[in-house]
Amino acid sequence: MEQNKPNGAECSVGSAPRHIAFIMDGNGRWAKKRGMPREYGHVQGAKVFRRIIEYCGDIGIEIVTVYALSTENYAKRPKKEIDTILTLFEEYLTDAERDAPSRDLRVCFIGDRSIFAPDIRERMAALERATMSRKKRLNVAINYGGRAELVAAFNKLIASGKTNVTEADIEAALYTAGCPDPDIIVRTGAEMRLSNFLLWQSAYSELYFTDTLWPDFTESEVDKIIADFKGRKRRYGAAE
Ligand code: IPE
Ligand code: IPE
Ligand code: MG
Repeated sequence: MEQNKPNGAECSVGSAPRHIAFIMDGNGRWAKKRGMPREYGHVQGAKVFRRIIEYCGDIGIEIVTVYALSTENYAKRPKKEIDTILTLFEEYLTDAERDAPSRDLRVCFIGDRSIFAPDIRERMAALERATMSRKKRLNVAINYGGRAELVAAFNKLIASGKTNVTEADIEAALYTAGCPDPDIIVRTGAEMRLSNFLLWQSAYSELYFTDTLWPDFTESEVDKIIADFKGRKRRYGAAE
């Protein structure tokens, strides 16, 4: 049943994850606990994001995906909060452009880019082009929704004239085309749900939930999660 083997399915017990995805949740509560506005939590969260992706690269994780903003966040949160998150995103984009020549990191953006001004969209595409042959990869999910991604993929396939699709066709039409599925999805902030993240790609991902709020998340917790992952037995539906 080779064709049914999920991509990224080559890991066995004892091996480190090749692809870790983070649902970076808990910024608002972290700020509230300190009597600060939610935006303060996002500022702190952006610092932690930089540290954690750096660390994952240092310890040899090949692919990291981060959930920075969902389509639902964009539609439902106050403008002031969204503006802060988009400003933090633009600051990251500027840093990533500066670092691109000296850093072995492919940067990809997944999500609906129509919310961005044309100049930002062009900068995102240019960074993706400039870094596309790098070995390590970061996917930043921004204005991303798993259902929206699937709808966009199906519409792309219909537009291409297909009347019958395979799993491979769908995979190739997703924002994550060509990227192995996450081996583990980590959610900080105590909620135990996916909140529309990587619905297709998470079919056989391991899940890890921690109460730690994202701005308190540390490198040592990454180590703990990797150790936990190494002890898991992934069966993909097969018998022992
Ligand atoms: C996650 O933190 C970041 C985004 C959703 C953009 P939240 O802002 O959801 O923080 P909580 O869950 O309210 O604490
Ligand atoms: C998920 O967190 C989205 C991101 C972390 C970017 P939410 O805070 O939006 O999730 P819900 O609303 O608690 O499900
Ligand atoms: Mg939240």
